[in-house]
Amino acid sequence: MTTTDPIYRTDALIAEDIDAYLVQHQNKSLLRFITCGSVDDGKSTLIGRLLYDSKMIFEDQLATLEADSKRVGTQGQEIDFALLVDGLAAEREQGITIDVAYRFFATEKRKFIVADTPGHEQYTRNMVTGASTADLAVILIDARKGVLTQTRRHSYLAHLIGIRNLVLAVNKMDLIGYDQARYEEIVADYRSFATSIGIADFTPMPISGFKGDNITSKSENTPWYSGPTLMAHLETVELDVTSAQAKPFRMPVQWVNRPNLDFRGFSGLIASGTIKPGDAVRVLPSGKTSTLARIVTMAGDLDEAVAGQSPTLTFADEIDCSRGDVIAIAAEPPQVADQFEATFVWMADEEMLPGRPYWLKLGTQTVSATVQAPKYQTNVNTMEQLAAKTLELNAIGVANFSTDKPIVFEPYADNRSLGGFILIDKISNATVAAGMIHFALRRGQNIHWQATDVSREKHADLKNQKPAVLWFTGLSGAGKSTIANLVEQRLVRMNRHTFLLDGDNVRHGLNKDLGFTDADRVENIRRVGEVAKLMTDAGLIVITAFISPFRAEREMVRQMLAPGEFIEVHIDTPLAEAEKRDVKGLYAKARAGQLKNFTGIDSPYEAPERPEIHIDTTGMTPDQAADAIVAKLIP
Ligand code: ADX
Repeated sequence: MTTTDPIYRTDALIAEDIDAYLVQHQNKSLLRFITCGSVDDGKSTLIGRLLYDSKMIFEDQLATLEADSKRVGTQGQEIDFALLVDGLAAEREQGITIDVAYRFFATEKRKFIVADTPGHEQYTRNMVTGASTADLAVILIDARKGVLTQTRRHSYLAHLIGIRNLVLAVNKMDLIGYDQARYEEIVADYRSFATSIGIADFTPMPISGFKGDNITSKSENTPWYSGPTLMAHLETVELDVTSAQAKPFRMPVQWVNRPNLDFRGFSGLIASGTIKPGDAVRVLPSGKTSTLARIVTMAGDLDEAVAGQSPTLTFADEIDCSRGDVIAIAAEPPQVADQFEATFVWMADEEMLPGRPYWLKLGTQTVSATVQAPKYQTNVNTMEQLAAKTLELNAIGVANFSTDKPIVFEPYADNRSLGGFILIDKISNATVAAGMIHFALRRGQNIHWQATDVSREKHADLKNQKPAVLWFTGLSGAGKSTIANLVEQRLVRMNRHTFLLDGDNVRHGLNKDLGFTDADRVENIRRVGEVAKLMTDAGLIVITAFISPFRAEREMVRQMLAPGEFIEVHIDTPLAEAEKRDVKGLYAKARAGQLKNFTGIDSPYEAPERPEIHIDTTGMTPDQAADAIVAKLIP
């Protein structure tokens, strides 16, 4: 090893002055990128080659890699293990436990994290996960095969995710004798496709991952190519964080810093722009304005802060600002809305359910959101738009979203960190989708709540009662309707004003357009919840008798009502017992395969975990059950 060898110099520096080494390393910029291409386009060899040429792994390991083109295990991970782990931890924090391998390597000029994701269509979500934090995508093409379906799919996804730097690496040039004409044909072919999906620009290059042509040094085999080598391009391409500095200032607030009564600062990662003390700032969604007083960091106050930094900001006035708010430059604030259109990728095994509330996380904001039925789904192989009622695993579609509180956002095309969101299942906590906001819907902004003079309290007072919803849930044939009916009779005898909403009846009118798919059951319960809510506004005690098989929708109705007004009553009859009674003969039909999606047979029932009232019907008559319920309500 000679002293000019980067490995030797690094080793020497580590040995002599570990602090200097760490500082040198810390000050380098970081490029995150992703490699895409179909399975045998040479992805693993290329990654191995980059690691090898940047001296992150050794000759014998490269040989092994080429032999079995498996996932690359690198020593590079040890060089800056913390950084790599950070990346993985960030993904984990978002609940994304999807298989993406991140490799770390560094050169004299830059540090790199490359996301290595599998290429098949069934791994669309993996690719989206890997691409979501990338500044650049290397689209690999096998020079012998040219532009393939996977090339188009990956380019579409990379573009959709907002990656603006695309490298078209025409690989395996050695296997076509470094044929310039063939190379140019492939580039032209790709250009016409790229233009058609709105990719304005890309950087083509002829390479061989296996032989090392145009990876770190110019290849003598392609004298006709005058562009940069892949490594030179990766080392100099503009980072997203650099271009973000030119945009208007935005910082989502991660936490409020209040060590004592004299200091109140707001900390977060600056998503875009620059800021100086004295600048007029605005806090969203409230819209309150103030002047920036100080930019505080561990290393002292700054005169200016830019995108990519994480300072603590203080204001000249005491205005409200908390976690989830966004601090912006006053003159150019981002948008605030509670309804918007977005493209999203479905990442869960269970299909998307229009109308079900999910947690929507956008930066530091978390709100409850529902998705309407998709406007269309995109075929990722042909870019065709297809009609769709829902989205299944790995599908991509466009739909309208509504949130329970206004969110602060920007269109994804303008700002990836304020326009990208994930959806989380409220019960399993799994990340079920990743989305990109297009624009706010005006209709959300033009409908206001009309205040009425006769209040819900007045309605309730007149009836001399406290409104409530007795929400019965249980299997078909559990006895919900029978017991609900008896409870209503008792309440009326006690001069209570009631109304009974029964599944079979509501399905003859208001909900006669709905069947028994999961999506229809979600909508059934959403509508019944809204009706029950209106009836409580009218001061009534509402009794509902619906199977309402899903916890998520029962929870949604609970959240729609005033605290304490939702009383969940589990009419608990074991399936075997309900099936034995089979009052309507439906279980027999379902068992015979004449009735699809029957609850308890081929459609799930999620029993309540902590119902306010639990009735075990095996040990009592319907009258006893009704007495027990009324006794709980009116002790
Ligand atoms: S829910 O699941 O959407 O809450 P709901 O209570 O409105 O169901 O309707 C259930 C009633 O519809 C049952 O009591 C039964 O009479 C009838 N029914 C018809 N088909 C089905 C089915 N596939 N699954 C469950 N109930 C069905």
